[in-house]
Amino acid sequence: MNGLYKLSELDANLVEALSNRATELRRGATPARYEGLALGLLFLAPSLRTQASMQRAAGLLGLDLVQLTGSSMWKLETGDGVVMDSDAAEHVREAAPVLSSYVDALCVRSFARFEDLASDLADDVFQGFAQHSSVPVVSMESALWHPLQALADRATLDQLKVSTRAKLVLTWTWHPRSLPHAVANSTVCMAAQRGMDVVLACPKGWELHEEVIAQAKLLADASGGSFEITNDPGATKDADIVYAKSWCSLESWGDTAGESFKKLELRDWQVTPDSLSAGARFMHCLPVRRNVVVSDAVLDGPASLVQRQAENRLHAQTALLEHMLSGPAGCESPLQLPAEVGA
Ligand code: CP
Repeated sequence: MNGLYKLSELDANLVEALSNRATELRRGATPARYEGLALGLLFLAPSLRTQASMQRAAGLLGLDLVQLTGSSMWKLETGDGVVMDSDAAEHVREAAPVLSSYVDALCVRSFARFEDLASDLADDVFQGFAQHSSVPVVSMESALWHPLQALADRATLDQLKVSTRAKLVLTWTWHPRSLPHAVANSTVCMAAQRGMDVVLACPKGWELHEEVIAQAKLLADASGGSFEITNDPGATKDADIVYAKSWCSLESWGDTAGESFKKLELRDWQVTPDSLSAGARFMHCLPVRRNVVVSDAVLDGPASLVQRQAENRLHAQTALLEHMLSGPAGCESPLQLPAEVGA
């Protein structure tokens, strides 16, 4: 496995095997050890869960850790042919190979920058590292995808034995800020690949990018699941899983004032006890704004899976790193892979 950009680039059998391994690790299985190997963590955007769980996963696997944050580094340029006479002092063309010479895998977090839709859609920061590194590069969330969150969420659904044909509604929620699409994109594709009946519920104008929608439909076709879009906030009421997330409209990308104006009337897109049917479960990647995105009563109640999701970040990432590093370390991957995937 040569790095990871989005979860759905992995074969469905491999995703299932990684989820199963995450569950074994959660139950106390001993992780493989990779003494002498090093993991690079590069955070160009804030994080609580990803930062802490990646550090802990590295420790469990015996990895040396090289950790950098954007504020402690030179400002990075990623564009080709740029005259670097502004504030960026370092180009990814140097930064990526330099870091590759110190570590055996490099994990990068780079949010959407909301300066230019085209460069965010090209995911230019992550792709710059992927292109110029000589070691596998794993996304810890990029402009478009959050594969580690999706793998942890997949493990959460599998551990709780949520039927593969259950209905998962990803509902847009009001938020005071303009947020990226990475978790929303990753959630619909993860659930579609799992074979679920996936519904994207959002106000008109907040639909995800057409290529993501096409991808979710393809994954649903392949898995026997389904994918549909509605502008009805009441769509959560017959869901088995209500996954809440806020994201900005593609029509007002980078236009914070325009986005705020457009969503003035949308504050009641919030998950409350009335949004959930009896027995439904609530998911969110965290961090979450209480009583804005979701009410206290849901977040603190028995329907909420958010703590399990966050805990599974550790197990899912340990499983992923184990599998990814198993080649260079000379260790066998601990995954139980079907023959066609292991070949
Ligand atoms: N869900 C998630 O990635 O959390 P952090 O941004 O805190 O890492």
